[in-house]
Amino acid sequence: MLYSEKVMDHFSSPRNVGEIADADGIGEVGNAKCGDIMKMYIKVENNIITDVKFKTFGCGSAIATSSIATEMIKGKPIEEALTLTNRAVVEALDGLPAHKIHCSVLAEEAVKAAVKDYYDRNGIAYDPKDFPCGCAECHLDH
Ligand code: FES
Repeated sequence: MLYSEKVMDHFSSPRNVGEIADADGIGEVGNAKCGDIMKMYIKVENNIITDVKFKTFGCGSAIATSSIATEMIKGKPIEEALTLTNRAVVEALDGLPAHKIHCSVLAEEAVKAAVKDYYDRNGIAYDPKDFPCGCAECHLDH
């Protein structure tokens, strides 16, 4: 079996799909190579991510990784979302085939982009090194 049960589960019944109309942060990232796009919305109260939704126009692994990523950051302090790595996402899904690892990178970057948007909107200082630069080319190296 190429994909774990968890991947299949999150692909066929993705959690937290949709948009948040009054989101506090929105992150949109894409992979220039495969053309997949991921959009992540977060709601933040007292530094806690109280709600998160995503929309992914992409492959099954991109849907599964964004779905599980939303579960991993919901209810967590915003700083903790920043420490979410694509590796942790892959582990939580019980693995991904090697040629699908870049899909999990997209999930990590979508979360970070949403957090960055939240910081920008609220004038909160951050270290730019904690975030991908946002250009499409960077994603190709992962
Ligand atoms: Fe591009 Fe999965 S093939 S994100």
